[in-house]
Amino acid sequence: MCGIVGYIGKKQAAPILIEALKRLEYRGYDSSGVAVIDRLNYELAVRKTSGKIKDLEELLESSPLPLSSVGISHTRWATHGAPNKINSHPHVDCSGKIVLVHNGIIENYEELRDILWKKGHKFVSETDTEIIVHLIEEYYKRDIFVAVQKAVKQLRGSFALGVLCLDEPDILIAARIGSPLIIGLGKNENFIASDVPAILEHTKKVIYLKEGELAKIQEDKIQLFDFDGRAVSCHIDKVTLKVDTVKKQGFPHFMLKEIHEQPSVLTQMFQHRIKNNKISFDDGGLSEKCFKGINHIFIVACGTAYHAGLVGKYLIEQLASIPVSIDVSSEFRYRTPVINKKTLVVAISQSGETADTLAAVKEAKLKGAKIISICNVVGSSLARVSDRVLYTHAGPEIGVASTKAYTAQLGILYLFAIKLGNARQTLSSIQAKMFIKDLKQIPSAYIKILKDKNAIAKIAENNAHYGCFLFLGRNINFPSALEGALKLKEISYIPAEGYAAGEMKHGPIALIDEYRAVICLAPESNIYEKMISNIQEIRSRRGKVIAIATEGDEVINKHADNVIFIPKINQLLTPFLIALPLQMIAYYIAVKRGCDVDQPRNLAKSVTVE
Ligand code: G6P
Repeated sequence: MCGIVGYIGKKQAAPILIEALKRLEYRGYDSSGVAVIDRLNYELAVRKTSGKIKDLEELLESSPLPLSSVGISHTRWATHGAPNKINSHPHVDCSGKIVLVHNGIIENYEELRDILWKKGHKFVSETDTEIIVHLIEEYYKRDIFVAVQKAVKQLRGSFALGVLCLDEPDILIAARIGSPLIIGLGKNENFIASDVPAILEHTKKVIYLKEGELAKIQEDKIQLFDFDGRAVSCHIDKVTLKVDTVKKQGFPHFMLKEIHEQPSVLTQMFQHRIKNNKISFDDGGLSEKCFKGINHIFIVACGTAYHAGLVGKYLIEQLASIPVSIDVSSEFRYRTPVINKKTLVVAISQSGETADTLAAVKEAKLKGAKIISICNVVGSSLARVSDRVLYTHAGPEIGVASTKAYTAQLGILYLFAIKLGNARQTLSSIQAKMFIKDLKQIPSAYIKILKDKNAIAKIAENNAHYGCFLFLGRNINFPSALEGALKLKEISYIPAEGYAAGEMKHGPIALIDEYRAVICLAPESNIYEKMISNIQEIRSRRGKVIAIATEGDEVINKHADNVIFIPKINQLLTPFLIALPLQMIAYYIAVKRGCDVDQPRNLAKSVTVE
């Protein structure tokens, strides 16, 4: 979703603002823009364009910005109005002196636009954002901070803002509700950004702006206030991310790099969280006491995180024998789930900024539920509203299609289910130890699968021409089928559907003919034979079968056109191993079809609007 950057200091602002935008590209966008104030010549200059940042760079070559050491920049993911130049940010007021970038959605923008229009303000774009800059103009009486403070109190919805004023060029204003915003602290320079990777090359000292906070930022001073203008204290965090982790490190795409990082992410997780065969979530403050009195678990999440949650439901119910309900966050919010003090809500989100998941959690909290979140981004909004946080520590995930964050979420969910099973005495210590032993095999199994990467790539490429894919799985690999289909459609734009194999006869079988490819998840398990029956039903209708099966399976070759083997493992753990070939199939098909793997069209990494 939209990305915001701001700079105030002594260096040339434009190159910093553009480079930082490139680090936000992964969030997803369709246009971009930049504004700087030339303090010497009293000029506010704005450049914007649809398309990618390279299009903005080309524009800046033909129409250079004046020298300046203060500015804001933006990548826009269109919500209100087409992704064209006029609708892209920064937006400027009628006087041409106030300029603003925004991430979020202003829900009462039509009402405010009518009021402002009647007062004579002229609007040029179709965006909700533009009303904010005019509202600030309306309140502006030679104090930009006060004007922004008054304006934000009128806004409903979600917003992160960066604001500059030509008449007060030594001040950069930031504000937020709902959408994320951080302040980066440098020496005689300060930054704002939607997230840490944008400014990592300049500073590791950050302030996570809290909900309902405003910041008055100068090159050597930062002051924070609430929306009533009262000063509030600030906490400076030191981020531990390394610049290298947000680079491709020789891989052609971030997605492939992140696929390869999975063995080390899980190795580190297990080393960190398993000590003497005991699972520890001490850093998240999660002890067995937290489970006392809980009689129902709700899992809420979106996209890939939802699929991880679905695996979690199977696991928790099996190992800890407690009812688990799961919802996509946007549905959870608007139905009336029965929640009370005995409910535990587990929210899963890579970014910790997904608006629907945040809203679902806030709703559940109001009803008295305890919240545990499984989150990748340290300090994210979700982490801050949760009672306990179990970080996945998978490192920054830049590819829009989630890979390592998914398997890291699975890792935490397995550990969580074992710990809960232990606490509820539905899992004996011996059983828990066996699980832990099996879990520890996963990283080496991943390395083995990755060694077969060329063979997997070949199977993917040979099947890249199919116009439609079906993914079938059963039991704990039904979520794997959903995730495989999501991965493929996200990055290759091929229609793909994930289904519980047992449901095939209730609809999807009508699709099967020689033009469909069906990916059948058939690892060794107690329902293996049922999967083989499904495969035969597909073959007898001339469907192409690509199976994922367990090493040593000699039966499967007879039934499938192509087989990808995974190492033998406890059947409850197969979703880990199946995820890897599914990610690779999606990746190599997308590459073969010439798709933009890391930044697929229309998608955003962090969906900060509902
Ligand atoms: C977007 C991303 C997906 C992600 C989903 C949930 O749709 O493209 O990859 O799974 O959001 O994001 P979250 O950050 O909450 O896990």
